[in-house]
Amino acid sequence: MRIGVIGAGNIGGTLGGRWQATGHEVIYGLRDPGKREGARSIDEALGGAEVVLLAIPGGAVVDFVNDNAKALDGKTVIDATNNVRGAALNSWADCQPVVPNARLYRAFNIYGWDVFAAPTIGGQQPDLFYAGPDEGHEDVERLISDIGLRPVRVGDADQAGTVDGLLRLWFTLTRDHGRHIAFKLLTD
Ligand SMILES: NC(=O)c1ccc[n+]([C@@H]2O[C@H](COP(=O)([O-])OP(=O)(O)OC[C@H]3O[C@@H](n4cnc5c(N)ncnc54)[C@H](OP(=O)(O)O)[C@@H]3O)[C@@H](O)[C@H]2O)c1
Repeated sequence: MRIGVIGAGNIGGTLGGRWQATGHEVIYGLRDPGKREGARSIDEALGGAEVVLLAIPGGAVVDFVNDNAKALDGKTVIDATNNVRGAALNSWADCQPVVPNARLYRAFNIYGWDVFAAPTIGGQQPDLFYAGPDEGHEDVERLISDIGLRPVRVGDADQAGTVDGLLRLWFTLTRDHGRHIAFKLLTD
């Protein structure tokens, strides 16, 4: 897939690097493309992308979506951001009306980047819980699998807050267990 990765820090750089290693075409979109070899402007990264990953500060998401609404609308957009100082961790209530035809997914936000960098934990494959529409979810699941995690769809966009609750649990558990921890759904 051709993936536009917006932001090339801990999370964008880690996920983008692993997708490149599994054969995807990753185009980093940066405000200053000179900061990373091969990076492009945000317009260029969005223009050619089949899937967009948002990996920028959570507090910048609403402005980013407003500024780039035309390029984002109609695309699969994976939101890995957390607005840790905001009233909610995600900004979908403000974003979805601006890009009504985008397929918004909440994914890759519940663990630290170090889990995505080394996803096998205790010899096991963790699950990645995510939310978003049924239409298009196969692409998102493939991208989760290519990072090395098992995708578990929690539900439609209305379950974004449920997914965010897992980040709060993850953060709380890191105090006693360190950052290289993750979750698994057990079923019969
Ligand atoms: N770190 C983690 O373990 C982790 C895990 C899950 C989710 N997240 C979430 O992922 C997001 C990124 O975290 P990070 O740790 O990767 O941050 P980071 O290392 O600080 O990287 C942030 C990236 O976003 C870019 N950026 C900043 N403001 C921007 C804006 N207004 N428009 C476009 N690009 C902008 C930065 O580029 P410039 O050089 O231009 O500033 C940089 O490339 C956050 O929302 C965070 O909550 C982080």
